[in-house]
Amino acid sequence: MARLGEAGHRKHKEGAADMYPLTRMRRCRRGEGLRRLVQETSLSRDDLILPVFVAAGTGRKEMVASMPGVWRMSADVLGGWVEGLRAGTVLLLGVPDADDKDESGSAALREDGIVPSALRALKEQRPEVVVITDVCLCGYTSHGHCGILTPSGEVDNDETLGLLSRMAQVHAAAGADVVAPSGMMDGQVQAIREGLDESGLQDAAIKSDAAKFASAFYGPFRGAAHSSPSFGDRRTHQLAPANRREALRDALLEEDEGADWLMVKPAMPYLDILSELREATLLPIAAYQVSGAYAMLKHAIAARAFVARDVVTESILCIKRAGADAVITYFAEQVCDWLED
Ligand code: PBG
Ligand code: ZN
Repeated sequence: MARLGEAGHRKHKEGAADMYPLTRMRRCRRGEGLRRLVQETSLSRDDLILPVFVAAGTGRKEMVASMPGVWRMSADVLGGWVEGLRAGTVLLLGVPDADDKDESGSAALREDGIVPSALRALKEQRPEVVVITDVCLCGYTSHGHCGILTPSGEVDNDETLGLLSRMAQVHAAAGADVVAPSGMMDGQVQAIREGLDESGLQDAAIKSDAAKFASAFYGPFRGAAHSSPSFGDRRTHQLAPANRREALRDALLEEDEGADWLMVKPAMPYLDILSELREATLLPIAAYQVSGAYAMLKHAIAARAFVARDVVTESILCIKRAGADAVITYFAEQVCDWLED
């Protein structure tokens, strides 16, 4: 290149042609059209998954106090609401009433339970909408833990697997396209895959929340789902925020167990994990912009620290850039709306 005839140290340096003033990075940033041509990542309706809280009973639509702009709806209300849904995919999270919770979370296994009823209502109105369901017991147990407890109060991994497998079968039989075990039990993907295959539900996919950290960013969700543990925490099964290698190992184990999708959760402060997992697997990866990230942005927007559209689209675009194929976000409807203008 032009470098050849030049004297001195610069001619020997690899990549020296990339130096100013021959190279000017601003050339490709000069106008909107040029900027669009060189844009590497983009956001579309196809990438977004809206989490939806489903309440028991009928005729219920309640604002979630910890998450301004997010609602809990009963199955019948959801059936009407879905007609106007813009996102192509929803993630259903069941929120049973307190008097329906017990030690083993048995309401999670009922074929006429909250999530199966919501699934039927959604699929009746909009069969093309993809429905993913959260498979974990913490919303259904009286103690708020993600599984059944041993007499000494620990989450009993192996006894919980059968319940998770059954819960996934109930969801898939009611029409779930994808089941998403989020409890971080060892062997959960294998147990669920076997259960689905044995019951003729071999076409239901599994999205494993394999890289799920024990995060303070779930705080507002636990208010929404009434799923806080009544004692202790989730650190015996969820990942330590400090651990990168362990997260990758856990995710790859769930791939070997038969997961069709992997997930990183939370997304926002864990983009390094997302980016490394993208290199380590060929599976699709979803990332969850969790309740705490949502609440943080909402509060800052309300305080006029940010412009909603700019900050929300940037935050989700960056999650995609880090390696996510799909982003689960409470902003999904709002973003679909913006993408249409
Ligand atoms: C249930 C579950 C949680 C979230 C999704 N599924 C909470 C938890 O593990 O404590 C958090 C999602 C969010 O904060 O938006 N296991
Ligand atoms: Zn749980």
